[in-house]
Amino acid sequence: MLIKVLMNFLWYLITTAQGLQTNCFTWRQLQAATNNFDQANKLGEGGFGSVFKGELSNGTIIAVKQLSSESSQGNREFVNEIGMISGLNHPNLVKLYGCCVEKNQLLLVYEYMEKNSLALALFGKSSHKLNWSTRQKICVGIARGLEFLHHGSTIKMVHRDIKTTNVLLDTDFNAKISDFGLARLHDEEHSHISTKIAGTIGYMAPEYALRGQLTEKADVYSFGIVAMEIVSGRSTVKKKGSAIIKVYLTFGIRAYLYLINSF
Ligand SMILES: *[C@@H]1O[C@H](CO)[C@@H](O)[C@H](O)[C@H]1NC(C)=O
Ligand SMILES: *[C@@H]1O[C@H](CO)[C@@H](O)[C@H](O)[C@H]1NC(C)=O
Repeated sequence: MLIKVLMNFLWYLITTAQGLQTNCFTWRQLQAATNNFDQANKLGEGGFGSVFKGELSNGTIIAVKQLSSESSQGNREFVNEIGMISGLNHPNLVKLYGCCVEKNQLLLVYEYMEKNSLALALFGKSSHKLNWSTRQKICVGIARGLEFLHHGSTIKMVHRDIKTTNVLLDTDFNAKISDFGLARLHDEEHSHISTKIAGTIGYMAPEYALRGQLTEKADVYSFGIVAMEIVSGRSTVKKKGSAIIKVYLTFGIRAYLYLINSF
């Protein structure tokens, strides 16, 4: 019952909100596109649901993310994601084509990224051997995307969850930031946003993780950790290398404190 009310509310929000330039897809369209959500088309398991590859009737290849409507977290992230990135257009942000709210399902439709996530490219079994120029290009791409989020558009936001699994790569290894489920708007009148802490351990800036003070610098810190992972080819979050995690964290925090003190 509650779910139903919520779904109707979401539907209302999505179909009537003037400012949102989000396409609505029908369940049938997406069912046809993904061959009835065939496991063979599954690209991965995201934070709150599965991601499937699909093809629209006009030939556009898409990625469909299925969020669990059972969890309120899923609902929140769904609304947040649509609100945050529909209408945003930048070569280093994953494009949201639209969404679908039907049959107790919340679905988000994105552009398809051929090379999957940066995490997979760096640490995966079938890892592409990334050469230095490609690694540099990826770093620059993420930085451009963040610059745009922080300063480049009319709305300013903090992503809050920059990590290698949330950076996707297209066929030419252009990096695009994805997953805006935790993103927060940031207005410059306030020096920082106080908010419930969310994000991923190992990527969180110390002042945010310890005191909940959120500014766009939190993303910059996470980017630094990602950059270290790109350069070293080692993951901060793999259990196997827990010694490495400590090294990274200490190194990250030291570098960060050094930077703050030098300004
Ligand atoms: C195919 O349809 C999608 C969704 O309606 C649209 O965004 C895209 O531009 C279309 N592609 C072409 C090639 O017409
Ligand atoms: C690096 O890899 C990319 C993508 O595989 C390739 O296009 C490029 O030519 C390579 N550059 C060098 C210097 O090997």
